[in-house]
Formats: sequence, C-alpha cells, structure tokens
Amino acid sequence: MSVIGVLTAGGDCPGLNAVVRGLVVRANQKYDAEVVGIMNGWDGLMEGDVELLDDKDVGGILAKGGTILGTSRRDPYVHGDGFASVEKTLRRNEIDTLVVIGGDGTLRTALRLQEDGAKVVGVPKTIDNDINGTDFTFGFDTAVQIVTDAIDRLTTTAEAHNRIIIVEVMGRTKGWIATYAGIAGGAEAILIPEVEYDLEEVASLIRRRHRRGKNYSIVVVAEGIKPPVKTELEKDAFGFDRLGGVGYQIAPILEEMTGFETRVTVLGHLQRGGTPTAFDRVLATRLGTRAADLAVSGQHGTMVAMRGGEIVAVPLSEGCAEIRGVTPDLYEVAETFFG
Ligand code: F6P
Repeated sequence: MSVIGVLTAGGDCPGLNAVVRGLVVRANQKYDAEVVGIMNGWDGLMEGDVELLDDKDVGGILAKGGTILGTSRRDPYVHGDGFASVEKTLRRNEIDTLVVIGGDGTLRTALRLQEDGAKVVGVPKTIDNDINGTDFTFGFDTAVQIVTDAIDRLTTTAEAHNRIIIVEVMGRTKGWIATYAGIAGGAEAILIPEVEYDLEEVASLIRRRHRRGKNYSIVVVAEGIKPPVKTELEKDAFGFDRLGGVGYQIAPILEEMTGFETRVTVLGHLQRGGTPTAFDRVLATRLGTRAADLAVSGQHGTMVAMRGGEIVAVPLSEGCAEIRGVTPDLYEVAETFFG
C-alpha cells in the first residue's frame, strides 16, 4: 500500500485544510493509500511527530482557516542536517511520497530534499500569489476579498471625515493583493513594489480630486514598497525581511503635502485568518486531489499548479524559480482609475 506524508510549512493561508482534505479523501477512496499527517511543518518531520489521517479526521475542515497540521518556520537545512534529519521519520513511517504544501521558501526546501533522495510533490501556497509556474495560489482570493471588504468600510468613514486613509496590505515583495483589492475597492492610488512611486505625484492627484469636490481618498500601499525613510528590517527563518508599517511613514508625508487629514489601517494577519472563499475552497480541493494522483502514480519532483483554469503538474523547480510580480498590463488597468 502506498503511504503519503503531508505537511504544511511557513505562514498559514486560508484553504490549507481544504488541500489536506482533498488529498486524504482522494488517496483513501480512489487508491486505498494511507496518508500520514506530519505535525508543525518541517519540525514534525525532524522530530517524528506524525498522525495517521483518515476520512473522519478531515470531516468538517473544508471551511476552516488555519491548518489542522500546524505549521512552523523551521527548516531541515537551517535547523537540522538536511535530508539526514528527516530520513528517519520517512523510513519509520514507510512514507513513499512527501506532499509539501508551502510557499516559495518551503518549496525550495522540498526541492533540495528531492535532490537529496526524498520523493516529493509540491503544492504552492500563499496569500501573496507570487509563486512562479501557477496562475493563482489558493488563499489569495480570500485575502483580496478581506481587503476589499475593508476598503469598502474605510471608504465610508474616509468620506464622512474628509480624510485620506492609507490601507497597508500584505504581499511581501509583490503587489498582487494591493493591485487586485485596490481595483476591486476603487482605490485612488495603489503603491506596489514593482512600480516606482513618487509621493508628490500621489499628493497632486489627491489635490486634483479634492478640487473636483471629492473630499476623501483611499490609498492602498503594499507592505513591500521601498520605505521613504531608510529602515532596518528583521529577518524570518527563511531569511526574508519581516515587513509591515510602511504606511505609517507615508501618512505624515502625504498629510503634509496635501494638507488633508490622513489615517492609516494596517490589515496585517486579518488577511490570512478565517474561512476561505468558495474560489479558494475549490482551487485547494482540486490541488489536493491532484497531488494524491501524482503521489500514487510516482510523478515525483513535481508541483501541482493552475494554468488557464486547468490543474496540471509542473516541475517543482519551476515553483522555486524567481517569484512572480504584477504584470504591467494589470497595473495599467488599476492606474486608469487613479485620482
Ligand atoms: O507570505 C505570506 C505573508 O502573510 C506575507 O504577506 C507577510 O509579509 C508574511 O507572510 C508575514 O509573516 P509572519 O506570519 O511571519 O508575520
């Protein structure tokens, strides 16, 4: 009987449980394969913390945020001896394939393990939507919906007080969430890391707008834009910058330039919490079931991906290539509505 190990690593993301459910149900029902849940990301694989999962364990988790497996930002190549530190758990549990659900850092670790002797299938995960090789990642749609709802609410209070409100959103070094939610929420300006910005230009379009009788403005700022004031950032376990707070630097500058009262809302981890949207539940379910197919049929070193609406297998190395930014075409659509 085939045995599949599954883990979720890195930051959580709405839809993780839907992937696990899809994988377990497909593996059990279609292939009579066993699925072993590895707890707390790579930690569980290093420490041997595993639990057998069956249909009962994944009942009722489709709509649940977070991850029933737990997660961590520890990594076998940073906090252990690489493949040697996970081999015992793989062997003891007779795991044939390791299904790794994670962002680009986690997928790179998965690829190293594959090269060092493990048999891996990757599932791309991030609210940031920046993984190469797939059109969308699950969790992104949910984050965009949460930000759009927030913009709708912030717009009415901005209007009531004649204020500028800066909405800072996640996305790490890419501006997907900012651009999609900014378009959906009708933002007056959207600042993203991929496009250089000039605060004088933003101030001038806000002043023009106010002269036209619109006394409020929403400015969406991606957390990863270059800060106007040089800032030392902490690093996380994968060596990524810990971001957040740039909106507070932008606010006083825009207030000073425009003379309009300005407030800041940093949405932070709200964007990752709670139930996934229907789109993300379906996408995550399709990815999880396809991951089971690839695992059982021995298509290792691959990653499941969405391409043109279809779920396909791509080389895992594609998912580890340089992360994807917002296309100029999409940003141009957003810019059409600035001011
Ligand atoms: O990559 C997902 C993400 O939510 C980013 O958008 C954000 O910068 C980061 O994770 C936050 O990480 P943490 O949960 O470690 O604060």
